[in-house]
Amino acid sequence: MRSKIAGIGKYVPEHVVTNDKLSTLMNTSDEWITERTGIKERRYAKRYEETTATMGAKAALIAIDRAGIEKEDIDFIIFATLSSDYYFPGCGVLLQRELGITKTEIGALDIRNQCTGFIYGISVADQFIRSGMYKNILLVGAEMHSMGLNYSDTGRDISVIFGDGAGAVVLQATEAEGQGILTSKLHSDGTFAEKLALICPGSHGGYYNKYLEEDIDYGFSQDNEFGDVFVTETMLEEGQTFPYMEGKFVFKMAVQKFPEVIMEVLSEADKQPSDINMLIPHQANLRISQFVQKKLGLSDDQVFNNIQKYGNTTAASVPIALCEAWEEAKVKEGDLVCLAAFGSGFTWGATLINW
Ligand code: ACO
Repeated sequence: MRSKIAGIGKYVPEHVVTNDKLSTLMNTSDEWITERTGIKERRYAKRYEETTATMGAKAALIAIDRAGIEKEDIDFIIFATLSSDYYFPGCGVLLQRELGITKTEIGALDIRNQCTGFIYGISVADQFIRSGMYKNILLVGAEMHSMGLNYSDTGRDISVIFGDGAGAVVLQATEAEGQGILTSKLHSDGTFAEKLALICPGSHGGYYNKYLEEDIDYGFSQDNEFGDVFVTETMLEEGQTFPYMEGKFVFKMAVQKFPEVIMEVLSEADKQPSDINMLIPHQANLRISQFVQKKLGLSDDQVFNNIQKYGNTTAASVPIALCEAWEEAKVKEGDLVCLAAFGSGFTWGATLINW
């Protein structure tokens, strides 16, 4: 028995933020952003009205409807995000409440593997379905980055890249010959955890400074047994609560790991890059996707990109892109579809699906 994607949905907020709009907030330009990332615009959610979980719920309802089931039929939830509504509990239970399916008391699992979150989620869901434990798993990837970015010049290298949105799928068992998820491969290497990270607030108390090039003062009071807190004034004053990224290093790793893991899933299924009908890479940066395409010798119609419209939506980027490709009939029954991602951790992975 294999699992298949029985329904897929996406939600992107209405509000479009162009590169020119960002140029009014920080010292950047449409030319710089387009040339380095391919991004032309992104969406920002309606602050205080929308959240990561509510966007996820909107995408989920579409996926559930397209799967031809009722929301009460869902027997497990998996939610991947790095921008959760609360530090805890995670978005899984908030989505469950938002969908109004608390009575069934189904399990809700939160995944925090950043850009690779959806790939990790699909692999976990696939195993639950294959084992016969669950029949209808709702997997959501959603992000509300716009609440957590630094819109000053200091944060411009990161802030221009990210956008908000959500994607969702319903996974079900299939016994159709050859159909469904063929294989997934997951990887990580914590050596470079701080190269792309948001490390404050947190309970590290400066312990990991030994892995940094320079010592950072987070403002923890070392002499006070009970006085230290997650968030210090220094963190806020120094802008340490914003994400950090060593862009060039991330780029170098991404263009190495993407092709490696794609080849790994292909080889396990005894396939070649030329067999792929559609590669849906995590929308990290158009330049990364183009590099991967070239390295694998894929044609333009074998790779789907929509980062131009939505920016990098991290855990939401693969399901949003997959949904859009499906809606445009670029993913059809019988197609060999490859999903792949790389991101903070570092974590990376790929999934091969016979659609
Ligand atoms: N607008 C204008 N200038 C900028 C901006 C901006 N938004 N951001 C940085 N700059 C400036 C820098 O200050 C620097 O100026 P200087 O030369 O006077 O010092 C100059 O532009 C070049 O900066 P670099 O950081 O060297 O720019 P780089 O060519 O590396 O491009 C980028 C930055 C786009 C982030 C690139 O490193 C990259 O694509 N990295 C990959 C990381 C990525 O895609 N991350 C996505 C999230 S992670 C993931 O999803 C895998």
